[in-house]
Amino acid sequence: MKIAVFSTKDYDRQYFSKVERRDAIKLKFFDVPLKKDTVSLAEGYEGVCVFVNDHLDREVIDALASYNIRLIALRCAGFNNVDLKAAEKNDITVVRVPAYSPEAVAEHALALILTLNRKTHKAYNRIREGNFSLERLIGFDVHKKTVGVIGTGKIGAHFCRITKGLGCKVLATDFYPSEELKSYGIQYVEQSELVKQADIISLHCPLNEHTHHLINEDTLSVMKDGVMLINTSRGGLIDTSAVIEALKSGKVGYLGIDVYEQEEQLFFQDLSESVIQDDQITRLISFPNVLITAHQGFLTAEALTEIATTTIGNIEDFMKGKSSDNVVRSS
Ligand code: NAI
Repeated sequence: MKIAVFSTKDYDRQYFSKVERRDAIKLKFFDVPLKKDTVSLAEGYEGVCVFVNDHLDREVIDALASYNIRLIALRCAGFNNVDLKAAEKNDITVVRVPAYSPEAVAEHALALILTLNRKTHKAYNRIREGNFSLERLIGFDVHKKTVGVIGTGKIGAHFCRITKGLGCKVLATDFYPSEELKSYGIQYVEQSELVKQADIISLHCPLNEHTHHLINEDTLSVMKDGVMLINTSRGGLIDTSAVIEALKSGKVGYLGIDVYEQEEQLFFQDLSESVIQDDQITRLISFPNVLITAHQGFLTAEALTEIATTTIGNIEDFMKGKSSDNVVRSS
């Protein structure tokens, strides 16, 4: 089966080349993302393999169908960037990698918390310039703080265990509370309670029409002054304008984000010689208490191996007509 792989980076080629079944599956790597302007590159292939910022709206999916594409293989867990109804209408199967390393993303959320808090990024730069002063590097003990976890699926559950291990009081919300987490002492509360009580809030729910701008002016207004907000899930969960105001007023004391509402135009590219046109990201970058990483939560050797292995497995299952839990359907 011939598959056009979009948005590829060197690490994708490297990890896919280790598991590629060259006899049965032929991968063609394109650097560009899949969107309206690039969809014609998929002509002549039978499937496409895409990542988080490829844009598979109705128009793109109709075009894919016109080229007889039969499979969209997401090499990520989230599928908010695919119009599933359009795929179904066109009889295109959508598969994903539901869990490649929940631990990788949960650990990255912890890295954001500890870096923001203990300012190791600032200390590193200072010391390289011969500045051994400790002024303005004061952090706080994470031990005994209240951590609020929104979404306790695979990533959120691991994040709960990590923060519990640090000695935090862990509050959580999810439609499906986990008995296992409860047995570790994680307390499920209403989201309205969680946002009021938590010193650190970490988002681990998917982006959909119900969770879009889950963190907005209203939810921010009831949070503790100086709250730390962490988002490794999807940018659209946070209303960026509202969080900028909350940072300016001091309501949000720390913001750590691995995802950003408008990341499609920015992330995964070297724009160091470009004039950034997005005024909200430049405003966010200007705050001393904001830490941004460019969607690297997944980026571990273990996760990349799992992504490549499962994606190739998904393509093989599709070729054999085998049913799979990794198929995504519109609900
Ligand atoms: P999952 O599907 O295992 O868990 C999501 C949980 O959120 C579910 O338990 C669900 O019931 C819950 N949920 C849904 N709506 C909610 C709401 N309004 N309030 C509270 N809980 C709600 O997903 P997983 O694997 O834990 O991933 C979570 C998200 O992390 C993904 O949707 C994806 O957007 C993001 N992600 C980010 C990565 C990165 O590199 N930064 C990598 C992988 C995933």
